[in-house]
Amino acid sequence: MDNRLFFPATKRNRNYIGDVLSRIIQKGGFILEIGSGSGEHGVAFQKRFPETIWQTSDPDIRHRQSISSWIYYEKLNMQMPQPLAIDVEKTPWEIKPELGLSLQGIVSINLIHVSSWNCTRSLFKQSGELLSNEKYLMLYGPFKIGNEHISQSNYLFDKELKMQNNNWGVRNLDKVNEEAYNNGFVQKELILMPANNISIIYRKVSV
Ligand SMILES: C[S@@+](CC[C@H](N)C(=O)[O-])C[C@H]1O[C@@H](n2cnc3c(N)ncnc32)[C@H](O)[C@@H]1O
Repeated sequence: MDNRLFFPATKRNRNYIGDVLSRIIQKGGFILEIGSGSGEHGVAFQKRFPETIWQTSDPDIRHRQSISSWIYYEKLNMQMPQPLAIDVEKTPWEIKPELGLSLQGIVSINLIHVSSWNCTRSLFKQSGELLSNEKYLMLYGPFKIGNEHISQSNYLFDKELKMQNNNWGVRNLDKVNEEAYNNGFVQKELILMPANNISIIYRKVSV
């Protein structure tokens, strides 16, 4: 059965996000994506970076079905594993030891503004436990800088999000960085992206 979902933004942003990933991805090992949604990013990145295994995940069964359909549609079954049912807040994440051992980084696109703050905290805590020194955590989405929106459209988007769910909202990068730091990460790069989004690359540092 074809359960593919189509998230229009993924068509617009996949190449730009892929360009950022191309700066950090190394050959070999796994990348774990948290909150993969439809799976369109996952298959696009698996095709663009064939020497790395892209491991998708999402707690929503319809999204996991869509990811599986996209993997099948793109004929990536032999390369790409099926999605994991990771809910960031349900810790510890259930992942196989071989995935944990050869994890080169964790990527999460458009997650932390559409989930509770506890989800952000849990994302950093679990990532900090899974990733060894120098490994990366890459986030993409809208952020406030110095607690200020960087555009009028982000301000309106934030209002919309909060109307949908009071626990959602565009996060203040200072607070996100605080969480990162508390879990052994430092912000290495901040890349302004189209449509007032930002990519942040964190690296795990030795303590
Ligand atoms: C706005 S969508 C983004 C999907 C995809 N990354 C993209 O950019 O198209 C947010 C995704 O996060 C997932 N999500 C929400 N809460 C989550 C949680 N606690 N843990 C993991 N994923 C979660 C949702 O199921 C959804 O697929």
